[in-house]
Amino acid sequence: MGAEQSFQGQTALVTGGTRGIGAAIVEALVQAGAQVIATGRDTQGVQQKNQDPATTYKGRVSFWQADFADPASTQAFLDRLGEVPRLDVCVNNAGINIVKPTAELSQAEFELVDQVNLRAPFRVAQAACRVMARAGYGRVVNIASIWGLITRPGRVAYTASKHGLLGITKTLALDMAPAGILVNAISPGFTLTDLTRASLGTEELKRLAGQVPLGRLAQPAEMARVVLFLASPQNTYITGQNIVVDGGFTIA
Ligand code: NAI
Repeated sequence: MGAEQSFQGQTALVTGGTRGIGAAIVEALVQAGAQVIATGRDTQGVQQKNQDPATTYKGRVSFWQADFADPASTQAFLDRLGEVPRLDVCVNNAGINIVKPTAELSQAEFELVDQVNLRAPFRVAQAACRVMARAGYGRVVNIASIWGLITRPGRVAYTASKHGLLGITKTLALDMAPAGILVNAISPGFTLTDLTRASLGTEELKRLAGQVPLGRLAQPAEMARVVLFLASPQNTYITGQNIVVDGGFTIA
């Protein structure tokens, strides 16, 4: 069976699946045959997306509301997740970044990044693994970052959260191995999403591209392809690993 059909009959969860890298992962999973649950932050947006055959890929994607900065919303989402009859894939993609020098970063800002990027993925993976363990099969993929390996000034909260996410990935891989669940991470380098395109000017994008050995930023679909392999039944022996998808940035 080719990778393009390998998710037939499977259900996958993608957090933050409404835009950017998450949306590319959702699209790739749908094209590979999966039924997808994608989380979005705002209730109205989720409702609209659920009514549009284009965004649901004609009923293949169902959007669920979850705001990981809000404990009540997170708990409601986890309760709902715990009731799904089947879950084969869990992709922890939702994430935020606050770039500020340490001296200026408030406790609340640090905790917000910690909440969304570290605590939420842990709790989502934990709930997902409980469902997966019943079937004795599962694939978890955490979207970390090159800032899970290295860092730069002004990234203390984000870097701490992504380093932590890699720690969760390794330990969860050990804890879930007996249940047939493989847990991995990918660490994207600079990726050209609508948001990065809008927030960085042409000059800044050119400057960043110049720092990457491959000479360009990544497309979200290039992240999705790697996630797809790690999340597929074709991945039978990779667990607890972090695949760095950065055009060579961290080795230069
Ligand atoms: P994005 O900002 O376009 O999308 C992030 C997603 O997370 C959105 O769907 C958003 O709704 C969701 N999200 C944010 N805060 C949330 C909250 N409080 N509750 C629930 N969902 C929330 O970002 P992008 O670039 O697509 O990033 C996706 C992942 O990839 C993130 O974990 C990010 O840290 C990581 N990453 C991105 C890189 C890039 O260059 N774009 C590089 C390395 C890692």
